[in-house]
Amino acid sequence: MEKYYITTPIYYINDKPHIGHAYTTIVADALARYNRQKGRDVLFLTGTDENSQKNISAAEKHYGKENLSKEDVQKYLNDMAGVWRETWKKLNLTNDDFIRTTEERHVKAVKKFLKLVWDKDDIYKGSYEGYYCEACEAFIKESDLEDGKCPDHKQEPKKIKEENYFFRLSKYREKLLDYIEKNPDFIMPKSRKNEVVSYIKDFMEDVSITREGLKWGITVPEIPGQALYVWFDALINYLSAIGFVDNEKKFAKYWPVDLHLVGKDIIKFHCALWPAMLLSAELPLPRQVFAHGFFTIDGAKMSKTLGNVVNPVEVAKKYGNDTLRYYLLREIPFGEDGDFSIARLEERYNSDLANGLGNLVSRTFALAEKHFDTLPELQEVDLSGFWKKYEESIGELKLHNALALVWEEISKCDIIIDKEKPWELAKTDKDKLEKILGDLLFRIKEITRALEAFLPETSEKILGLYEGKGSIKENPLFPRLDK
Ligand code: MSP
Repeated sequence: MEKYYITTPIYYINDKPHIGHAYTTIVADALARYNRQKGRDVLFLTGTDENSQKNISAAEKHYGKENLSKEDVQKYLNDMAGVWRETWKKLNLTNDDFIRTTEERHVKAVKKFLKLVWDKDDIYKGSYEGYYCEACEAFIKESDLEDGKCPDHKQEPKKIKEENYFFRLSKYREKLLDYIEKNPDFIMPKSRKNEVVSYIKDFMEDVSITREGLKWGITVPEIPGQALYVWFDALINYLSAIGFVDNEKKFAKYWPVDLHLVGKDIIKFHCALWPAMLLSAELPLPRQVFAHGFFTIDGAKMSKTLGNVVNPVEVAKKYGNDTLRYYLLREIPFGEDGDFSIARLEERYNSDLANGLGNLVSRTFALAEKHFDTLPELQEVDLSGFWKKYEESIGELKLHNALALVWEEISKCDIIIDKEKPWELAKTDKDKLEKILGDLLFRIKEITRALEAFLPETSEKILGLYEGKGSIKENPLFPRLDK
């Protein structure tokens, strides 16, 4: 069986998930479901990035004291990881595994990986002096500061001067460029490729991969007294979860990964540092990294200070999981920046879901129930043109396109209903009515199949109607929203 291994970034857990994190994970879920539907053996991985200093700061804030014991920190991380895990469950996401970087399987994998890089002589001791942004968990050049602050996080970086160990990232410059050149689908969307290439060519330098005096973090025997830089540890999660240390067979099956899904903020880590680390360890490189855009909330950057952080669980509770999925996947052209707004979500709900899909299904099934004892026989229609375009869109990860195509098919059904006026045929020509309904029922079933990965709960309900499960009158797919 063909395999499909897809990952999300592992998230920092200094706070609960917001709608941006949910976006990445929902997209990954839709792709995982789509590939399962295609009969592939899917491994969909998400998890938590726990060795970051900002998690520790959050724990200190939570307990209201500094210098927490290891137990206190671990307790905080356990609780927070639980919140994240539960969030994905509540949103009906189907990740096959959930990796935490404080888990034994990960720590072992990091040690094994580091030894490979160490034995390759790709790590050396040096000294570092410069700025470090804790929110980015990355060094930042003085020339990139704006008013002395990190342009992304608007906070002052720390000045660091210490003896560190460095990874020979620059040694892999040519090999990385070569891989990107020979694998045109490695960095997607294509528009992001130039950004990465110019970084690798002109800016990429060796990177310090250890920190002095870090109280939290993974340590390795090769480098006593220092903890590993969180990104070096975090990226390895993609290997730890598939048996890098203790399950050769599983590892051989799933690696290399088919798709790392990330936000555009972390594309360099995934398209430069990570593949260089893999080259050093002599492991195959990822097939594809897709960087999606960022979205704002009602036009403003989402931030705690502005108080506009959207909780995905609340949105889903009010409007339904499928509504949230539909809105995110349809509204924001996948790969581009976009905006999230509840007003737009409600518009989409009313027009596309309630009046579009919901109304079509309820009209058709209501007529069938009213005029026939059993469901009219489905009348096959050639929808190969639709399926071809749909598959192509998903292949190019144009998920918003795939959904738009489905809604074109929904419109076609509405046109048939308006033209044939089945409620009149019920009085004049029952044979024709049966044929028309059979045609519509066939189309709706195909539409539902195309929506299974995107709107899993709705699809299940619709398919249930074909088996006589439930009644559309008592249980509408998308009830009117309360004003
Ligand atoms: N821990 C690192 C990733 C390590 S992967 C080996 C990290 N974590 S994070 O918690 O900050 O999550 C970043 C990811 O969240 C982004 O790459 C993106 O996928 C998602 N998003 C965060 N804010 C977002 C928006 N406003 N819009 C869309 N996605 C957003 O970085």
